[in-house]
Amino acid sequence: MQQNHSQKSLKNFNPSKVPLSLYIHLPWCEKQCPYCDFNINTNKSEGDEDKLINALYQDLRGSDQYIQNRKFSSVYFGGGTPSLVSAKMIKKILAKFQDMSLLQKGCEISFELNPKEVTHAYIEEIIEAGVNRISIGIQSFDQNMLDTLERNHSSDDSYQAIKIASEFKEIDISIDLIYGIMDQSVESLKKDIQIFCESKISHLSFYQLTIEPNTIFYKRELNVPSDKTIELMEIAAKESLNAYDIFQYEVSSWAKNNSFSKHNMNYWLYGDYLGIGPGAHSKITEKSSITRMIKLKKVESYISDPLKITKIQIDNSSYDLDLAMNVLRVKNGVSFEELKKRGVFISKSFREKLQLGYENGLIDQNLIKATDQGYKFLNDTINTFN
Ligand SMILES: C[S@@+](CC[C@H](N)C(=O)[O-])C[C@H]1O[C@@H](n2cnc3c(N)ncnc32)[C@H](O)[C@@H]1O
Ligand code: SF4
Repeated sequence: MQQNHSQKSLKNFNPSKVPLSLYIHLPWCEKQCPYCDFNINTNKSEGDEDKLINALYQDLRGSDQYIQNRKFSSVYFGGGTPSLVSAKMIKKILAKFQDMSLLQKGCEISFELNPKEVTHAYIEEIIEAGVNRISIGIQSFDQNMLDTLERNHSSDDSYQAIKIASEFKEIDISIDLIYGIMDQSVESLKKDIQIFCESKISHLSFYQLTIEPNTIFYKRELNVPSDKTIELMEIAAKESLNAYDIFQYEVSSWAKNNSFSKHNMNYWLYGDYLGIGPGAHSKITEKSSITRMIKLKKVESYISDPLKITKIQIDNSSYDLDLAMNVLRVKNGVSFEELKKRGVFISKSFREKLQLGYENGLIDQNLIKATDQGYKFLNDTINTFN
């Protein structure tokens, strides 16, 4: 019964109402961090940027069927380490988007940097190119933690990076911090958070270190903090951040004055996104389907065939879970009206699961939002939509 309901409804999408953002994957890194399972490449050589940029153009030109006459509401240069790409290339790429009239007015254009590349000159150039939001991979201000993570930047680089970035008032700034690092103390983390709070930076991505299969750390014996210590870290971080009027708005995202990442909010509010570049992911709504796609992962393979993709169709059996996995991450939830305005379809079975979640104390009434209890055990809450 339930399946038939959703099957019928999955044919009624209106893609023109669904906001579309663009993700550009710039894959190069100086070295492989032992905890990272992103799709990266450490062999950047002369001429590679030109080859990749041509493939990106080709990819974009071949994506009309996914763009469907929409303009991008945000653009995100992620990696890898985008800041290893010359500012000249970033200028070229963004100029091309302007030429093709692909960007909405006021489009948020974000760019990830490693602290080592945060220099006045580089930031000035990418701002001139059109970037209006930067995200710096600080990870920690504590040299011991950076050593444990085997980062290629120092604590001095971390301090210097936030000092330089804060001087640019015309852009939004975010930093990444990692907690739950081997031998990290609550005190060390509190210091990291305090430095962030006292800076003028308004956005924090705050990630617990995850030990992913296929990483170097996965093969080692690691002295990660206990669950109890992790909990103490989370409590301490919340206390300090809230004291500075910085609030959590998503699982790993904290902001002052609601300066949310518009790009990431579009993911969580079940918007569409086109991903270009090696291994980039997309989610595209068409009249009668929603499809998730991934590009070829290896840089050389992508360059030789940038339009090749693997598709996974979101069907009636996976739709509710796919939607819940995104929207329930939003701490304050989202209204039915807001989702409807954004072209998101709410199936009858999804409503039934919300009701069940409400009865079990996991979901709020009248809003698509996890309760405090539901948010604390978010994976379990989301799984009830399976
Ligand atoms: C693509 S990287 C950001 C830019 C740049 N490559 C860097 O590392 O500085 C995105 C962020 O993901 C986070 N990250 C990567 N792997 C992680 C892991 N295993 N656990 C927690 N956070 C991780 C880091 O905070 C990192 O800054
Ligand atoms: S954490 Fe950042 S710098 Fe390190 S390998 Fe991953 S993407 Fe590259």
